[in-house]
Amino acid sequence: MSVPVLTIDGPSGAGKGTVSRLVAKKLGWHYLDSGSIYRSLAVALAKQSVDLTDKAEIVKIAQTMGLEFDCGDELVVKLNGEDITGQLGLESTGNTASVIAAYPEVRQVLLKKQQDFKRPPGLVADGRDMGTVIFPDAENKVFLTASAEKRAERRYKQLIEKGIDANLSRLTIEIEERDRRDMERTNAPLSMARGALFIDSSEMAVDAVVAEVLDLIR
Ligand code: C5P
Repeated sequence: MSVPVLTIDGPSGAGKGTVSRLVAKKLGWHYLDSGSIYRSLAVALAKQSVDLTDKAEIVKIAQTMGLEFDCGDELVVKLNGEDITGQLGLESTGNTASVIAAYPEVRQVLLKKQQDFKRPPGLVADGRDMGTVIFPDAENKVFLTASAEKRAERRYKQLIEKGIDANLSRLTIEIEERDRRDMERTNAPLSMARGALFIDSSEMAVDAVVAEVLDLIR
């Protein structure tokens, strides 16, 4: 029996994580937050103070790092047995992730780790290249976006709620910089998969986005 896959790609802060988690819960499917794999590698590199231009070392660490994911209501990630969940959401982690994600060799090593999440009864996969590279045969694909201002605003609120200090104008600049890097890289750039449903969530409530995605599946 083939396992159904729903891919949700889009830029950072578009609400992919929130929407994917809710849709997966509604359907009773597994959930892959692929950004957290790149973020985990970023944390592993920071721990060892690896130079971000040292590709060989980065690939070696990507190959050997032990990752465990517990995708319950809240994602918990362990790196070589240590809980690194708290470090995943930091802006510095996201920015490093987007730098190393541009290396094709790194993407190649992380490809299978992501495909292994496909298990019955189904998978919701969120990221940048889920519908184009990792699961090109997925039956259902969504491209979820929102204006850079809205995305920065949402990110700002999330950080403040977590008690993390944040600056809205700096966040907007960082989001635009990250988008540029993710869209302009030659290997698996952020782009809309053919046949994907395009949703601009700038003026939509989360529930409305979830309903539209569930409609697609049905
Ligand atoms: O989605 P998230 O913000 O957690 O991703 C962090 C970074 O990881 C992104 O900016 C992107 O560069 C990279 N990424 C990627 N491909 C994915 C998921 C994330 O290149 N499928």
